[in-house]
Amino acid sequence: MRIVSGIQPTGKPHLGNYLGAIRNYVRFQDEAEAAGGQSLYFLADLHALSQPHNPAELTAATREMVATLVACGLDPERCILFNQAQVPQHAELQWLLNGTARMGWLNRMTQWKDKAGKDREGQSVALFTYPVLQAADVLLYQATHVPVGDDQKQHLELARDIAQKFNFDFGNGTDIFTLPDPIIPPDTARILSLRDGSAKMSKSDTSDMSRINLIDDADTIMQKVKKAKSDPEPLPSDPGGLEGRPEARNLVGIYAAMAGTSVADVLRDFGGHGFGKFKPALGELLVEKLAPINARFVELVRDTEALDAILAKGALKARDLARPTLAAAYAALGLVRG
Ligand code: TYM
Repeated sequence: MRIVSGIQPTGKPHLGNYLGAIRNYVRFQDEAEAAGGQSLYFLADLHALSQPHNPAELTAATREMVATLVACGLDPERCILFNQAQVPQHAELQWLLNGTARMGWLNRMTQWKDKAGKDREGQSVALFTYPVLQAADVLLYQATHVPVGDDQKQHLELARDIAQKFNFDFGNGTDIFTLPDPIIPPDTARILSLRDGSAKMSKSDTSDMSRINLIDDADTIMQKVKKAKSDPEPLPSDPGGLEGRPEARNLVGIYAAMAGTSVADVLRDFGGHGFGKFKPALGELLVEKLAPINARFVELVRDTEALDAILAKGALKARDLARPTLAAAYAALGLVRG
């Protein structure tokens, strides 16, 4: 079992990242260890270059993201925690895979289409080739499982397509790359914006009110939940009644996920009640569950030296693990190296 996943250190990590991905990182850190396998989690700082960015903010956000992941339960002694920029093999393998990835495949990526909008010509080349770097991220380590939210599913399918074509074209009967399986949580794969039931919760949303950041303080969380978009109807008594009510479904889903219970159970308690009663209960639950993460983050983020040491140590291990696969890819392509 080899678990690999990444998160971009841009903006503040939010509840969608936590419920869609980070919670599974922690679970798989434990499961991989129990199975005698390994888990690798990285900050996708090279991916952050695909959009206009501020270098000083990227440095600060990278350290904050390490502190957040550790505060959420990743243990650098039990998993390999690093940033791409310290493991040059990611960028090297991306170049090798650029020969295999097809323009048509990348053109079909919904994230490319959404982010580029009508201005494709004005986008960076990095935004277009972003999924090839993502494929390199997981193929480099022979990942078997990749915990992600729903929005990354298509990118992982592409990684499998690239691996399959590379193995077929250059493997000479052996598999240079393992085909990775995405691990997508069934109930929390797509947490929605608090302001718009048709959009996902996102770091890049211009409105901070659209998301609960993992390091928001109690007052901010209560305020955001109170202002969250809902509807005038009381909550239904069973899950079927949430049909066609995306905002209500989202808030009830968040409650269930944070309480570790089911949507049906939440509706058993709150069915028939309006949001005037449900929202304060949701806000208090979030404050209670996020308080320990918040406290640990505040403590960790002060010590930049310790955070940098975590990344340096993780990168050392990641570079070692990456070496054989990269060497096999160079050799398969017929590239001569000393
Ligand atoms: P990023 O940084 O946007 O998000 C990190 C993880 O959080 C999940 N996620 C969500 N899950 C549920 N609801 C939401 N609203 C929500 N928003 C985000 C994402 O699915 C992701 O799992 N391209 C990736 C980073 C990456 C990567 C990789 C991931 C680079 N290389 C290799 C896996 C494997 C990204 O931008 O994630």
